[in-house]
Amino acid sequence: MTSVNSTNRTAQARAAGTPLLAARGITKSFGGVHAVDGVDFEVATGEIVGLVGPNGSGKSTLLGCLSRDIAMDTGRVTFDGVDASRLRTMQVARIGIGRTFQSVRIFPELSVVENAWMGRQWKGVGMLGMMQPPDAATRQRAADLIDLMGFSHLTREYAGNLSGGQMRLLELVMAMMCGPRLVMLDEATSGVNPTLIESLKRYVKVLNEQEQVAFVVVEHNIGFIFSIADRIVVLDDGKVLADGTPDEIQHNQEVIVAYLGA
Ligand SMILES: Nc1ncnc2c1ncn2[C@@H]1O[C@H](COP(=O)(O)OP(=O)(O)O)[C@@H](O)[C@H]1O
Ligand SMILES: [Mg+2]
Repeated sequence: MTSVNSTNRTAQARAAGTPLLAARGITKSFGGVHAVDGVDFEVATGEIVGLVGPNGSGKSTLLGCLSRDIAMDTGRVTFDGVDASRLRTMQVARIGIGRTFQSVRIFPELSVVENAWMGRQWKGVGMLGMMQPPDAATRQRAADLIDLMGFSHLTREYAGNLSGGQMRLLELVMAMMCGPRLVMLDEATSGVNPTLIESLKRYVKVLNEQEQVAFVVVEHNIGFIFSIADRIVVLDDGKVLADGTPDEIQHNQEVIVAYLGA
């Protein structure tokens, strides 16, 4: 385990001038709706970025453009120096970007550990590979992640029998199975009880500190974001309204009026 705190690491990565992920001029419209409207967005190595904004402000669409689940209209995404703008979703996973979705996506009729193994498909194992039993390294990785999330007693349980919160944690396990350097979580605390929200926060921090995984966390739970993020980006109507430390965002008058003030 490393003792380097993530804020220092972020500062170092920024000072080095090499963002892990850099997106420029991202736009995506649905009919007449400019869901994402000229967004620049960066994530440094090992950084935890909170992405917040009112409902419909374009957060999920932006994640979709970055992970290539959604074909953007214009813009460019670079990941670790590689142009990822035109990659397919599978290829994005292979270069080190994992994600979860706003709606839970697990396999309810498979066990917890089988779900974890499914996560490796994003590593490019392919359909044929998925029909083979997982290798020892995959089994070990799945067991370690399940153990980290406090799930060992549920390894053989059907995933469909987990609570909503446990399903969210299982999705994080699945996203981690492709060995990502960046994981994007879309509303991971929705439908999760307060105890499991605290657990989720802890696991994100452990993965961030032990494995230098960067996170983009989309959330309505402002308390969660402010306690975990190194930096917060606020979207409003498809545009970046503010980008700063939690302290800066908390005192930003425009953000207070548009979003936090209520
Ligand atoms: N597949 C889609 N088809 C049509 N409109 C969409 C689609 N996805 C998102 N939108 C619209 O784009 C805007 C941004 O949506 P979204 O990215 O889901 O916002 P957020 O995640 O911030 O709530 C909204 O006006 C939404 O209705
Ligand atoms: Mg959304």
